[in-house]
Amino acid sequence: MAQKSVTYSDSGKVRRVIVVGGGLAGLTTVIKLCEAGVAVDLFSLVPVKRSHSVCAQGGINASVNTKGEGDSPQVHLEETVYGGDFLANQSPVKGMADAAPGIVFMLDRMGVPFNRTPEGLLDFRRFGGTLFHRTAFAGATTGQQLLYALDEQVRRYETLEVEDDKGVVIRGERMVRKFEFWDFLSVVQDDGGIVRGIVAQDLKSMQVRAFPGDCVCLATGGPGIIFGRSTNSVINTGTAASAVYQQGACYANGEFIQVHPTAIPGADKLRLISESVRGEGGRVWVPRDPKEGRAGAEVPEGDRDYFLEEKYPGYGNLVPRDIASRELFKKCFHEKRGVYNPKSSKNENEVYLDVSHLPADMLKKKLAGVLETYEKFVGEDPYTSPMRVFPAVHYSMGGLWVDFERTSDGSLVKGSPRNQATNLEGLYAAGECDYQYHGANRLGANSLLSCIYAGLVTGPAMASYRKNVARSAWDFPASLFEKAEKRERAKYESILKMNGDENPYVLHEELGRTMLEGCTVERHNDELTKVIAKIDELSERAKKIGVTDTSSRANQGAQFVRHLNNMLVVARVIAQGANNRDESRGAHFKPAFKERDDKNWLRSTLALHAGGDGASLPTVTYVRALDYSLCGKAIHATDDVDISLVKPRARRYEQAGAASTVAVAKPSVPAAKAGATKGESSQSAE
Ligand code: FUM
Repeated sequence: MAQKSVTYSDSGKVRRVIVVGGGLAGLTTVIKLCEAGVAVDLFSLVPVKRSHSVCAQGGINASVNTKGEGDSPQVHLEETVYGGDFLANQSPVKGMADAAPGIVFMLDRMGVPFNRTPEGLLDFRRFGGTLFHRTAFAGATTGQQLLYALDEQVRRYETLEVEDDKGVVIRGERMVRKFEFWDFLSVVQDDGGIVRGIVAQDLKSMQVRAFPGDCVCLATGGPGIIFGRSTNSVINTGTAASAVYQQGACYANGEFIQVHPTAIPGADKLRLISESVRGEGGRVWVPRDPKEGRAGAEVPEGDRDYFLEEKYPGYGNLVPRDIASRELFKKCFHEKRGVYNPKSSKNENEVYLDVSHLPADMLKKKLAGVLETYEKFVGEDPYTSPMRVFPAVHYSMGGLWVDFERTSDGSLVKGSPRNQATNLEGLYAAGECDYQYHGANRLGANSLLSCIYAGLVTGPAMASYRKNVARSAWDFPASLFEKAEKRERAKYESILKMNGDENPYVLHEELGRTMLEGCTVERHNDELTKVIAKIDELSERAKKIGVTDTSSRANQGAQFVRHLNNMLVVARVIAQGANNRDESRGAHFKPAFKERDDKNWLRSTLALHAGGDGASLPTVTYVRALDYSLCGKAIHATDDVDISLVKPRARRYEQAGAASTVAVAKPSVPAAKAGATKGESSQSAE
């Protein structure tokens, strides 16, 4: 039986739910919850406006078809599924592609300063894996503009007071209470395993505290920092997803890690040079002569090898990221035909990414943000000299397993409490920390979209879950929360007492190097076995860490030890999953198993955590099905992929238009737009 009041618990407290994560997915979830009248406690590791969504550059996909190319949500669905090598569940992808135009219009109404055509229409640029202009953008700082717009909406709810079931205002109770600089530690589960709240730590006072919530959504981003340096922010350790995985949540498709083809090295991180640079006509090349001594700008056209354009005449520089990264890796790593990087200690080489042939005023209007980043960190002028770039870990397609409920025509059932629900009852996940939308490889500019779409779905799902929940978390005895709080406080105190001789930052450095070398663009089983052995070794050594900073305020050292332990757990899921999957699919490429193997591997990898207590090291159990209950109903989910809408077929990007039957049927599109990759600015379409 559902609760009597949706606003008050039986004991008269205002019923709140919890969202952890203040990026696009988290903020959208909060907005939808507030629209449904549900009060929210929002937690974020950093100020919401510093969430990693702020780093997204190139844009957000939506088949608005402003340029009359024949694009449509159906083509967007097909290309996303094809780009993801058929591992994405197709109904959620359809929901996302159908909703995309409405999402961009909504953001426009919220005041996002999207670039516009001279006629005043929203402008769209090209991105990888499509021949259409599908990507709306705000210069090259799109993520920041979107994040700030959603943040403003949430701030409005921070001032609004909660109304009860009859619409009477409850004085002093705000719709959103925001907790910034709080680190998620774990969920609070009742005796039946149902999630009733969270435990978090205030990173200023280091207070460990439990919070009730009728349900919880994690929107905590990806785990890129497991790979040491990547395009991710330092906060992207995946710690929250790892913590709930260790509490029983399933982690799916962990082995699918996206490497972005174009980034610049840096001592702290690898800065992204957006795919939109190629979308606007940037060209990738290396000198034909590997001993070429001239500076990039001096190398004449005939002495340049535009290797992507040559091999993929249709998509050119805009083949999907998995393919582009492999080609760059082959050129630089295997063939050693790249451009020597004078700053590299290991004789590494890179490729040129060239925009110097494009009009400077167009570049300023559309790409200023990212070109400034290059100039600032490399010290060279990208307007006049080709940039030098190399692939970098960028995104995790895998993440917490989440469910969906589909209609007979393959859409999502609106407001179903199953949508975005993990297998831990009462726990939802949205954004990069879920595994739902991208299969084996994400298309560029689909991530801002999937974050927002997942939020739009998760908010209503949580609202209906809360309506149906038999007992509010706010009616549970304080002892449930005190127990969870005590457990987490004890863990934190044991970290503070660690006095071994291992340095956590050194362990992280070793983990990052191991994962980068053994588990990114190319994977070999013998190397993966060594990666797993190294993770074992690091996990053992992590028990002997010495914590030198024992201060009681803002103790980042102790916090890092916790994150490191959680990273080691997810690193194992990634490496073990990669070792098991003997095929090549999307971003997961094994030279010894070059083909995609639909017979054995057209299925999601479902990982469950085991062990890891006391003396034993954690292990990963891979299962073919999940059985759990939600709102009193038994759920049986399998690792089958929903392929109900687009039949799997071989991926062939060598042929223009192969991604989409619709695109093939529109002869004007591939022919006209392929030219844009050869230096023509999409401005000409304006
Ligand atoms: O290249 C980019 O601008 C990145 C976009 C994305 O990851 O979607």
